[in-house]
Amino acid sequence: QTIYLKDYTPFGYQVDEVHLTFHLSPKATRVVSRIEFTPKPDAVDRSFFLHGEQLQLIAAKIDGQPVSPDVTAQGLTCDVPSTPFVWESEVEISPVTNTALEGLYMSNGMYCTQCEAEGFRKITFYPDRPDVMSTFTVRIEGDEKVLLSNGNPSGSGEGWAEWHDPWPKPAYLFALVAGDLINHPDRFTTKSGKDVELNIWVRPGDEDKCAFGMEALIKSMKWDEDVYGLEYDLDIFNIVAVDDFNMGAMENKGLNIFNSSCVLASPETSTDANFERIEAIIAHEYFHNWTGNRITCRDWFQLCLKEGLTVYRDSQFTSDMRSASVKRISDVIDLRGRQFAEDNGPLAHQVRPESFQEINNFYTATIYEKGAEVIGMLKRLVGDEAYTKAVALYFERHDGQACTIEDWLQVFEDSTGRDLSQFSKWYSQAGTPRIKVTDDYLDGTYTLTLEQSTPATPGQPDKDPRVIPVAVGLLGQNGDEVRGTEVLELTEAKQSFSFDGLASKPVPSILREFSAPVIMERESTNAERAFLLAHDSDSFNRWEAGNTLAKEARVAMVLDAAAPDADYLDALTKLVRDDSLDPAFRALVLSPPSQSDLAQTLFERGHTPDPQAIYDAAETFAQTLAEALTDSLPRLYADTTVQGAYSPDAESAGKRDLNARMLSLLTRLDGGEAAARQYDAADNMTQQNAALACLLKAENGETQSQAFYDQWQGDRLVMDKWFGLQVACSAPKKAASAAANLTEHALFDLKNPNRFRAVMGALAMNQAGFHYEGGAGYQLLADNLIALDALNPQTTARMCSAFQTWKRYDSTRQELIRAQLERISATNNLSRDTNEMVSRILNG
Ligand code: ARG
Ligand code: ZN
Repeated sequence: QTIYLKDYTPFGYQVDEVHLTFHLSPKATRVVSRIEFTPKPDAVDRSFFLHGEQLQLIAAKIDGQPVSPDVTAQGLTCDVPSTPFVWESEVEISPVTNTALEGLYMSNGMYCTQCEAEGFRKITFYPDRPDVMSTFTVRIEGDEKVLLSNGNPSGSGEGWAEWHDPWPKPAYLFALVAGDLINHPDRFTTKSGKDVELNIWVRPGDEDKCAFGMEALIKSMKWDEDVYGLEYDLDIFNIVAVDDFNMGAMENKGLNIFNSSCVLASPETSTDANFERIEAIIAHEYFHNWTGNRITCRDWFQLCLKEGLTVYRDSQFTSDMRSASVKRISDVIDLRGRQFAEDNGPLAHQVRPESFQEINNFYTATIYEKGAEVIGMLKRLVGDEAYTKAVALYFERHDGQACTIEDWLQVFEDSTGRDLSQFSKWYSQAGTPRIKVTDDYLDGTYTLTLEQSTPATPGQPDKDPRVIPVAVGLLGQNGDEVRGTEVLELTEAKQSFSFDGLASKPVPSILREFSAPVIMERESTNAERAFLLAHDSDSFNRWEAGNTLAKEARVAMVLDAAAPDADYLDALTKLVRDDSLDPAFRALVLSPPSQSDLAQTLFERGHTPDPQAIYDAAETFAQTLAEALTDSLPRLYADTTVQGAYSPDAESAGKRDLNARMLSLLTRLDGGEAAARQYDAADNMTQQNAALACLLKAENGETQSQAFYDQWQGDRLVMDKWFGLQVACSAPKKAASAAANLTEHALFDLKNPNRFRAVMGALAMNQAGFHYEGGAGYQLLADNLIALDALNPQTTARMCSAFQTWKRYDSTRQELIRAQLERISATNNLSRDTNEMVSRILNG
């Protein structure tokens, strides 16, 4: 059953207050609700429908009188008065058997909830839609030491606690946690002088992994005050770490619940990348307090209203806390890897979709990351000051409301006077625009001609031109900048822009800072790319020039069996040795383009990508680079080794990243001697993990792998790394069998999404391994998806996207994948989530 944006109708009743009482019990939790409804005078639709799934109804009353509603698998209907009334119900649910991890469930003996998007209906009967907002009072009765819900504590005693949330909220922001937890406490004073109690709650044993998350939270609170003027609005802010969680984290009002992998950190158990991600996710969830909670979404089609904006805000935060240019480059790598793949395949959808079957399938890179890119473009088009003014108007006008993208764009139109109708196509048209660039120079005038087009996507054959901000700078022949960055506004299908008064033909630096999520097509030469790599003042485009060189070199190797491009190798070896450059930047330039990205590039140029050939080219390239650096590698490795006590700061992390790349090149020459020494000496997970990865890749890491296992078998998060590395570092022909063996391991657990993703996600990411001839990888993934679907539809459906690129490949591989997709699709009782994903992938 498909739900359409155009069918939106408001609920006919206002909910004035919600009182919930929970009598906790693993197999039989009783939930008693008391909800005050007022019919809306102007309602078009007065039908009284309350969502409810997998609930056992014990009793229902209206104004104290027992009633017998009509109950279906989706909810209930009931005759209700036309004047305000009180609805009461009692239901029974079984948290301990809830393996879908949606609604109220148990993880390692603790109770927790996940209600976004539509999980609250598995807790009690309710109008479970984001435009229904109410204050909540929650009483929890249970033996657990810690009983938490949203808002402020309003009373407690032996075996019970009560919470009151004064801010009206939709049900998806409801949360409850109960368990024998320990807190890491701190405090924060807001700019207006309000004292806030902060806690991170964890299971006993994890209390030494909270300090970093707490620091990140405090920084986020301060940053949102300084940059957006937004202050926290309750007396207490709680974060809870949970081992079994479908996503990264959840912004429930005053009670954020986190996948433990996204909050727990220590130098011994977490890598630099983990630290950075934790800081960003803590910020993301905290920022939702305003962009998401105080102003929420009218319906789930508007998901990007809160997610795109909040991702944009967390990326601004990370840029301020760390290196802005490194953050931008990493975000673009991620965008191309995940969002471009989605936008150019069968799962392509709009930033604001217009229909769906299962909303959980739309928590995607398009809605999150492209949604954030759209905010970035808007800011670039209107300017920083106008952006700040418009956002202030958004909070002033819409605080306490459930809003739409139209509301968001309207504040920008009203505060800037700008017509954003063409801009709104970024929300309504799926697909990645291509910009074809040609240029011309005559008598001191340089002309750039930009031509845009967007390929068809499922259900959207024709696309209109959009407004695209293209940031451009010009360099002179000596490498100096002759024109600083200027934002060209491309609005037509084809448009020319001129720069005059130039002494000679300039070298253009186009799409600086990646000013729009598009694919640029331009004839260029390796010499020009090398020039930009050496001279561009825009660090994104410097990196981009190197990245293009890297791609072209590999494409030539795959297509023409060419040797690695000598000029590029030369440029790289110079760059690696250039100590004046930021180590993090050098590490990024050295990081090879992803094999999936290369496959897509080849596909778009009309070739059928061969994953094995792409893998072989990557190997040959790395080997040649290592050999070219033979004399310098030991010194470079030594020089980039960070001495002293571990600190997760951006600068040290950048050095360690470069150091790890040196180690991986060095391992190609010494077979793993340096890596083994690093493994033995490592006092932090970043170096331990990097060394183990090099050794496994060199097929010389059995001793260390066993040692790692012995050391960390009691730590779930570190063991996820161990599981993942075995597959990620496998040679193509061994990846599927490595993954298959791991699924037989005593510590493999289908029910734990982190463990499942560690193995199956690593398999899907190992391109040449997953696509290895014969299709064993496809079959293994399908077997596991079928097994998991019966337990956890959400995580299963997400993982189906591993198959989304199937049409790129040769007919043999396509048939093998089709067979697996059809096998999944034919499974009895397949979830709505997985069914929707598989049919979109097959038919899109
Ligand atoms: N709103 C959460 C976040 O962006 C993600 C929750 C997604 N949950 C889901 N069931 N799809 O941080
Ligand atoms: Zn979010």
